[in-house]
Amino acid sequence: MAAQSDRLGLLIRSLRLLPLAVAFLLLACSGVETDVPERWVLSNVHIAGYPTAEGLVRFAELLAEDPKLEGRITIDLQLGGVLGNEKETLEKLRFGAIQMACVSAAPLQEFAPVSGVLALPFLFENGEHLWRVLDSGVGDEIAAGLTEAGFVPLAWYDAGARSFYNRVRPIVRPEDLRGLKIRVQRSEMMRDLVEALGASPVALGFKQVYTSLHTGAIDGAENNLPSYRSERHFEASRFYSLDRHAIVPDVLVVARERWRELSTEEQIALRTAAQASAHLQRELWADYRQKAAETVTEAGCRINEVEDPNAFRQAVQPVYEKHAGRYGDLVDRIRELGGHLSGPPLR
Ligand code: GCU
Repeated sequence: MAAQSDRLGLLIRSLRLLPLAVAFLLLACSGVETDVPERWVLSNVHIAGYPTAEGLVRFAELLAEDPKLEGRITIDLQLGGVLGNEKETLEKLRFGAIQMACVSAAPLQEFAPVSGVLALPFLFENGEHLWRVLDSGVGDEIAAGLTEAGFVPLAWYDAGARSFYNRVRPIVRPEDLRGLKIRVQRSEMMRDLVEALGASPVALGFKQVYTSLHTGAIDGAENNLPSYRSERHFEASRFYSLDRHAIVPDVLVVARERWRELSTEEQIALRTAAQASAHLQRELWADYRQKAAETVTEAGCRINEVEDPNAFRQAVQPVYEKHAGRYGDLVDRIRELGGHLSGPPLR
């Protein structure tokens, strides 16, 4: 008898909730938009104040202010590699744990192979050549390849030219790299590059470099001057040698699945904000690079030019023999877009 009245009570309570459940279902099926903004996590390894980080801050601000978006998308910007190094970030993006990332094109090649063409050594003559390529039909093809692999590129950011630095000796000729343990990004091409020059590559995440330099697990690394300065790598590796072996941009990408859910108006808003942020980033870059050179020199580091850049170019030919064929005619078309440009060398 008691059990029967319990069941009756339960039935009455459930019936009272029925209208609420029906209303919820109707709302969910009607496509009526709720006012809850979408929160998109955007990950980057750089610290606040670094030009790329400042560009991304601007990107988030521009979206927040865009009247057409009416606050529908808010960017949760996670700087300083708190969500992991770039490989982990790209894995998270691929599995939908985060929505956006700004990463170097070099580790991206492990996920989107076409990106690797941008990391080929000594391919770009200078920054002008790089931007000319990215703004051309070749750039569109690379963007299409990234999209196909699941990463929709919104804007390219300046990451200067990468050069070697170490704590043992200045690198003047390729032979000077022999026997040194050099950190590389998680990219097969970067490993092959360092091997071709006679050094031992050690693949590590960006945020592991500082400690590894201090403990002596590595003798050096390769990066642009702004990163050498912002990550304080100069404290433990005082020779920075301007061989400028690769000009590899960073790129701001969105997970393709999320991108496809946006309306055309929202896509335009995101692209516009990304382009404006990249414009700011490139402006800030030149100044930051100059200050980085001053800071590290004042701290007692030595920046040197290499004796003959062609000797380095020749030494890395095996990288072309192994990798260039993957990119069809892209390498030749990129070269054709260069040729006697007069821009200043990058750092
Ligand atoms: C540059 C680049 C980063 C990248 C880093 C690296 O600093 O901007 O995106 O992570 O190089 O060497 O890993």
